[in-house]
Amino acid sequence: MKNYIKIQSKINSFNNTITVSGDKSISIRCVLLASQAIGTSKIYNLLESEDVLDTLKCISKIGIKYKKINSHYQIYGLGLNGFKTNRKLEINAGNSGTLARLILGLLINSKNQITIKGDKSLSKRDFTRVTKPLKLFGADFISKNKGLPLTIVGSEFLRPIKYNEKLGSAQCKSSVMFAALKTPGITKIKAKKSRNHTELLFKFLNIPIKLIKKQNFDYIDIKGISNFGAFKYTVPGDISSCSFFIVLTLMTKNSKIIIKNVNTNKTRTGIVSILKKMNANIIFKNKRIYNGEEVSDILVESTAYLTGINCPKKFNSSAIDEFLVIFLAAAKAKGVSKFHDLGELNKKESPRLDFAIKLLRKFGIKVLRNKDNVTIYGNPNLELKGNFIIKNYRKDHRVFMMSCIAALSLGGKWKIFDTDSIKTSFPDFIKKIETLGADIT
Ligand code: S3P
Repeated sequence: MKNYIKIQSKINSFNNTITVSGDKSISIRCVLLASQAIGTSKIYNLLESEDVLDTLKCISKIGIKYKKINSHYQIYGLGLNGFKTNRKLEINAGNSGTLARLILGLLINSKNQITIKGDKSLSKRDFTRVTKPLKLFGADFISKNKGLPLTIVGSEFLRPIKYNEKLGSAQCKSSVMFAALKTPGITKIKAKKSRNHTELLFKFLNIPIKLIKKQNFDYIDIKGISNFGAFKYTVPGDISSCSFFIVLTLMTKNSKIIIKNVNTNKTRTGIVSILKKMNANIIFKNKRIYNGEEVSDILVESTAYLTGINCPKKFNSSAIDEFLVIFLAAAKAKGVSKFHDLGELNKKESPRLDFAIKLLRKFGIKVLRNKDNVTIYGNPNLELKGNFIIKNYRKDHRVFMMSCIAALSLGGKWKIFDTDSIKTSFPDFIKKIETLGADIT
């Protein structure tokens, strides 16, 4: 079967109302926490992408049953000691860094060795960023290098730790928070700002958590507990999936979109703050709080032109998965844009910083790079004419989707390989883009 798409023409103006599928970070956290609760949890609007389905497969391999009933998933949690870990097991985290790193926190007390493996891209990523703090709780790890496969040997004698999270990584912070849940005493975390879904879920579940927010850091105290109850939760739409539609709308003349029921948690809306500073027209409507998370409808209208930005570093973590499309917007903006300290982008499913710079240069855009700082000389009249072939990008779902948005908004004749990469986070992506009128073959 062919595993590429062709885009040969720009999209025409559109005016649509859409929804996007459930948030990936929240979906994975909900499944993992439901596996640790006592009783039957019900999760609605769970994202049915490979990362989340792999999460379900992993908990099921460790003895937790689940079932899809109509529109929701029921997960039959057996409590904090409910994982059956009394024999050697191997679980597969596929492409998901979030799954692999967070589940390691939950395996901190596993009675036997559990080996985590992943696909090619995940296996290359650095796991020492989580194994280092998890070792301090008392767990041991066996691995040949920094990546996967990795074997965890849990401990029955856990001790709480003090942990200073300096990367701004929610995966590292959450992995330690999950381990802290199972560890008697109080674990103290000082964490650089990053998405706070785990904190909000802990509060929602009445898990003892103390939070003090400072300007650049959060102090988080977690008290180990013996159990918590099952829950019911509806996952809001994923702003990272929305980001492709937001940028497509801004870059397509006379267009408008409303994206309903999106998670607009401030630790995730960096893209909107950045684009607004670039003269974008974006409004959050019907703001409400649902189970601790902010949810809104997002209204976007195209503007005559976007302007360049000197992007404040404080937005880096809340826009971390969106820089590929932000760079596209900067390429078509009037003026120069500067972005700082984006080294973490090269630690994702592919080296995204390197890739984005290469692509923008192919467009004829001047891009300067100084270590992890990038300067993009925007061209508001940017129109592409040549042929663009996108392949060998480690099947990074966000690279695929960013390339589609570039093709639809800037023109040119595109052939984009590895269509199946979107299954990771947004299986409906192409169908949704087609509802706006995109011509994809
Ligand atoms: C995620 C955190 C981010 C993000 C990833 C999802 C999470 O990674 O890039 O897509 O759900 O915690 P880091 O924590 O490595 O920055």
